Amino acid sequence: MSTPAPAYSPGLEGVVAGESAICTVEGGLSYRGYGVGDLAAHCSFDEVAHLLLHGELPTARQLQDFQTRVAAARRLPPPLRDLLAALPKWTTPLDALRTAVSALGHFDQDAADNGHDANLRKAERLLAQIPVAVADQYRLSKGLQPIPARQDLGQAANFLFMLRGTDSPSEEVKALDVSLILYAEHEFNASTFAARVIVSTLSDIHSGVTGAIGALKGPLHGGANEKVMDILLAVGGPGQAEEWTKAALARKERIMGFGHRVYKAGDVRAGILKGFARKMAEAAGETKWEDTADTIERVMAAEKNMFPNLDWPAGRLYHAMKLEIPLYTPIFAMSRIAGWSAHVVEQLDNNRLIRPRSLYKGPGPRAVTPIAGRGA
Ligand code: CMC
Repeated sequence: MSTPAPAYSPGLEGVVAGESAICTVEGGLSYRGYGVGDLAAHCSFDEVAHLLLHGELPTARQLQDFQTRVAAARRLPPPLRDLLAALPKWTTPLDALRTAVSALGHFDQDAADNGHDANLRKAERLLAQIPVAVADQYRLSKGLQPIPARQDLGQAANFLFMLRGTDSPSEEVKALDVSLILYAEHEFNASTFAARVIVSTLSDIHSGVTGAIGALKGPLHGGANEKVMDILLAVGGPGQAEEWTKAALARKERIMGFGHRVYKAGDVRAGILKGFARKMAEAAGETKWEDTADTIERVMAAEKNMFPNLDWPAGRLYHAMKLEIPLYTPIFAMSRIAGWSAHVVEQLDNNRLIRPRSLYKGPGPRAVTPIAGRGA
């Protein structure tokens, strides 16, 4: 009796590829049972990172201990800083971050230990080191000295401090913090799944996260938040938005920041961050990109029944905060490291090699003609 042909779904659409206790998109996005809106309204990113990594929201004492451990790990091994300084000047911040995470694996004191506790220690260090790597490489690429991390600040405030060397207004810190909460986790998205595939061979967390950053880079995933601003700048302003969008759709172009593999009726995260993007634009005295975005949203809904995903307001928010476009996907990584790490730990705690099948579409069986008989 032959085995039945396995079911095939292009892009694994709709396929349940594993079990997880970290996050679900069923009934609204939630992390470990907490609705993402509830988390964004009542928690800091640091609390959410604790929730993802350690399973529960922290008590005040647990949060303090967690933040102390993370703050203490906010530094790069000096040879890595030299490496970042030596990268070609055209290196993008996300490519530099991928290299940095891979290199950090060499220096981690728990590199050889793939156990649960060691993985959590490595995850906390990556949470601390990734923003430092992004900020240091950014400054080095501009010929500026890196700014040492502060021990007294949370993840969002410290990142802005390392970039700018000054304290940022609390509204900016809050807006960045909310975006980090919304970006932190999203079940089996491409980068997380890539990380799980990698560690399912019993590889290590640095390999998994390096691969995840590679997967995040593409414009169909994390790279979209950078493309959002490229699109808005190309449109030029609200007056041109309707005509531009219709022409782009007629050319069958994708409008980055719209559509989603799972959310076909809209992404709750985009709705939450939209208000922050407009508020920040108003504070910066430049609402033209918000108005342009509103028109594009209206046209996309009418023409394609398609709605924004989180990258749509995130790109605009970061632009209103005067952050340079190539930093946007690294910021996504700075947040998603919490989710990636939680999945790496979960995968390794109950591992089964991820090894699916393919549906063969190549030639049928044939015999080899020795090279002498294959013609010139
Ligand atoms: N603009 C215009 N048309 C689109 C878009 C878009 N953003 N997204 C999908 N379509 C069209 C697509 O061309 C196709 O049309 P047709 O049936 O005529 O060929 C149809 O919608 C279905 O597209 P699909 O590629 O089969 O849909 P999918 O579920 O595989 O794609 C997606 C999901 C996110 C890759 C896609 O919507 C897309 O490319 N969006 C733009 C990139 C983007 O914003 N990515 C971020 C995703 S969410 C957060 C994150 O991970 O960063």
